[in-house]
Amino acid sequence: MKTIDDLGDLRGKRVLVRSDLNVPLDGTTITDDGRVRASVPTILRLADAGAKVVVMAHLGRPKGAPDPAYSLEPVAVRLAELLGQDVTFASDTVGESAHEVVAGLEDGQVAVLENVRFNAGETSKDDAERGAFADQLAELGDAFVSDGFGVVHRKQASVYDIAERLPAAAGGLVLAEVEVLRQLTEDPARPYAVVLGGSKVSDKLGVIDNLLEKADALLIGGGMVFTFLAAKGHGVGTSLLEADQIDTVKGYLARAAEKGVEILLPTDVVVAPEFSADAPPTTVPVDAIPTDQMGLDIGPESAEAFARLISGSRTVFWNGPMGVFEFPAYAAGTKAVAQALTEVEGLSVVGGGDSAAAVRRLGFDDAQFGHISTGGGASLEFLEGATLPGLQVLEG
Ligand code: 3PG
Ligand code: MG
Repeated sequence: MKTIDDLGDLRGKRVLVRSDLNVPLDGTTITDDGRVRASVPTILRLADAGAKVVVMAHLGRPKGAPDPAYSLEPVAVRLAELLGQDVTFASDTVGESAHEVVAGLEDGQVAVLENVRFNAGETSKDDAERGAFADQLAELGDAFVSDGFGVVHRKQASVYDIAERLPAAAGGLVLAEVEVLRQLTEDPARPYAVVLGGSKVSDKLGVIDNLLEKADALLIGGGMVFTFLAAKGHGVGTSLLEADQIDTVKGYLARAAEKGVEILLPTDVVVAPEFSADAPPTTVPVDAIPTDQMGLDIGPESAEAFARLISGSRTVFWNGPMGVFEFPAYAAGTKAVAQALTEVEGLSVVGGGDSAAAVRRLGFDDAQFGHISTGGGASLEFLEGATLPGLQVLEG
């Protein structure tokens, strides 16, 4: 991949940077600024090189039109604090405000454009519509730096099409993330364990399929585990269940047995009568989930078994919480897994914006892990062996 050095002297040049500033917000308050912090080094490097830095980013999934609930303005404010310098905010993406703000930049100054997803062209499946928006973005820059690792799996105007229109390079964050994920796919130190959680099995099919060829153990928790438990013939009460995936999961279990890949499932779960923070928790064995209760976390016996396997591995990748960690009564499984990752002698990787926010919220520090990826979907697709459009386009 081309790097920023390949772009030559950037003094006085307008450099469009795609960052992933998609942070969780409570109103206009950022509840986890990890992605903003991760975007700072590349922006600073470009500013230090004398570029006029124009940051493009998205927030949430607005419907292709301006929507104040998804404005990037609070994020621009936080970015300015972290950079320690002013950031000008354009109230549109490619309109009058954007042109005015970019024209007003001095060398080394930074601007942020409004949410690129306020324009329908950003995420359009139609190449021409996306291309037309990319043409408009390209008018605002002389070069493009792709640094939003969390969006490189998206074929979108500010990630993909723009790189075909301007001299383009990967930023430091994208390079660092790819370097770590390569270690997981190419020659991981063994034993190599992968911990998967989160609500849906259907989101993880590709990665499970691929990891059955690569990992020594797969540990499954979170809402998706109930489809595994159902595949083993257990009743799951009112827990999350993807009935249409049971056969696929049965196939995975059979393949894992054939290949000698261990699939570690919980032996006990914490159940509740309803999905609520104050619902009374009860721990039950997995073969005795009451028909009128739902599983909201893995149980203590399982948490211990998961932790033992994780901390004894030399390479661990983890994506997705083990339970509803936002409710303190159902956070123990996720916390035990996070703690075990901090004890790995080798490489521990926390994959994903949501998992990253979870570990920080549970009181862990980024430095306790080998690597915290800023991209959930992107890192899973990388591990699936998929071609990521936002990376591929930087190779040419
Ligand atoms: C994320 O939060 O996963 C990335 O920012 C990508 O966002 P998206 O899933 O809405 O494309
Ligand atoms: Mg996502």
